[in-house]
Amino acid sequence: MTGSGLRAILLTGGSGQVGRALREAPPPGFEVVAPSRAELDLADAASVARWVNARPWAAIVNAGAWTAVDAAEAHAAEAWAANARGPAALARASAERGLPLIHISTDYVFDGGLDRPYREDDPVGPVSVYGASKAAGEIAVAALNPRHVILRTAWVFSPWGNNFVRTMLRLGAERETLSVVDDQVGCPTSALDIAAAVGAVCARLGDPVAPSGVFHFAGGGETTWFGLASRVFERAAAAGLKVPALSAIASSDWPTPVRRPANSRLDTTRFTRTFDLAPRPWTEAADEVVGRLIAAAQEEGNRA
Ligand SMILES: NC(=O)c1ccc[n+]([C@@H]2O[C@H](COP(=O)([O-])OP(=O)(O)OC[C@H]3O[C@@H](n4cnc5c(N)ncnc54)[C@H](OP(=O)(O)O)[C@@H]3O)[C@@H](O)[C@H]2O)c1
Repeated sequence: MTGSGLRAILLTGGSGQVGRALREAPPPGFEVVAPSRAELDLADAASVARWVNARPWAAIVNAGAWTAVDAAEAHAAEAWAANARGPAALARASAERGLPLIHISTDYVFDGGLDRPYREDDPVGPVSVYGASKAAGEIAVAALNPRHVILRTAWVFSPWGNNFVRTMLRLGAERETLSVVDDQVGCPTSALDIAAAVGAVCARLGDPVAPSGVFHFAGGGETTWFGLASRVFERAAAAGLKVPALSAIASSDWPTPVRRPANSRLDTTRFTRTFDLAPRPWTEAADEVVGRLIAAAQEEGNRA
């Protein structure tokens, strides 16, 4: 407990999409302490332990990760250090102090071959260095700290950082036409909603037997990247912005070093049943983020 009466959470990845959302909207009753990567490097077990031992935290939230999926292929050691050894160090240090660990993970632990949304107990089968390193991080967290919640999410967008929604708005302003992949299906998820999901997990930390295990949390409904782009540009056009002509293409027309899962859908039933929070439709969440981005750009334009 701090002087403010709030309980303190140690957050890694505070400069990332999910981290910024948690800093903007901390779980009710908690304050978030977010050391920079220079201060807490997941690749450095000593700095991890130092931070975990620094205060009587109410919980640790691990939103830090190597997230550059394609670059991970050529930087496997760094990706594994952040995504597997880092979570292992966090889990070991937090378990020694009896602290709960909330660890963010990804649909990329699956190969995307299933024809229905993935459930928590479906076998993992990563097809990339990134996915394999994240799957190893999950195993370490589950093995080393019994007080864990692993929150798998997917297709994250937000007003910050590198994400598809921001890329579409940037490219849309520059180009007359845009081609977008239409044969991968997933659940776009706002980082703001992931912060709310972490809040719902934190609300249960004081339970005599707090829920633990793996949970899926992602935006409600499903779409393709083309569907998400279409929604972004609908909102942009409604706000009077110039928008490009969109065309739908196949993944094979847009080769990337890493094959993306064709099916990234996550079944969120277990999360909703356990934490009493249903994800809102991805369309609503996308509209909110697009609205914020357009408003911020207009404000900046007015200042210039
Ligand atoms: N983005 C997605 O579409 C997506 C989808 C599914 C799951 N996820 C998962 O969601 C979580 C959050 O993702 P995000 O999109 O918010 O990521 P992000 O915006 O790329 O941010 C990553 C964060 O991790 C930090 N970081 C990277 N390496 C680190 C290290 N060695 N030590 C400490 N911090 C380190 C970064 O710090 P710097 O800014 O200093 O580099 C940054 O704060 C991750 O676990 C990711 O795997 C993301």
